[in-house]
Amino acid sequence: MSDSNKELRVSKIRDGTVIDHVSAGQALNVLAILGIDGSGGEGVSIGMNVPSDRLGNKDIVKVEGRELSQSEVDVLSVIAPEATINIVRDYEVVDKKRVERPDVVAGILSCPNRNCITTADEPVDTRFEVLSDGLRCAYCGTIVREDEVGSHLKVS
Ligand code: CTP
Ligand code: ZN
Repeated sequence: MSDSNKELRVSKIRDGTVIDHVSAGQALNVLAILGIDGSGGEGVSIGMNVPSDRLGNKDIVKVEGRELSQSEVDVLSVIAPEATINIVRDYEVVDKKRVERPDVVAGILSCPNRNCITTADEPVDTRFEVLSDGLRCAYCGTIVREDEVGSHLKVS
């Protein structure tokens, strides 16, 4: 196999969004947060534990036919702080941006505190303040550490 074939684990896409430099192991959580499960008919490709100069290993997610907005992708920063978002049109990268940490994450995570009002049968959406190393429930103050985020996703 030639070197270029070795590098190209996942094919290039024509139009859509490439979420690159995703922390290794987080690709499926990225799709869960974005609510992408293939039922919309869009092409989705995933590379896991791909060698990366910058990160050692990384995951990569390619979604065809869909351009994700900054507000849609910023929430990914809680599980993939190094992610870059590439918008691809006609095979060219036309926009590249980093995910930015939002101040608040609403509705994505469930609170691990069983007595929290958001876990009772109340129509209260969850709300977490984003800290430097985790998230704090705005209702009960419970902290979800960054490495625990994946296991408290509402959406998977
Ligand atoms: N990509 C793709 N399909 C395209 C164009 C790009 O899947 N038609 C992917 C590339 O494989 C890469 C990412 O989008 O994973 C970003 O592309 P590019 O900016 O060309 O690569 P790099 O310069 O290596 O990106 P960076 O500097 O962000 O690491
Ligand atoms: Zn709570």
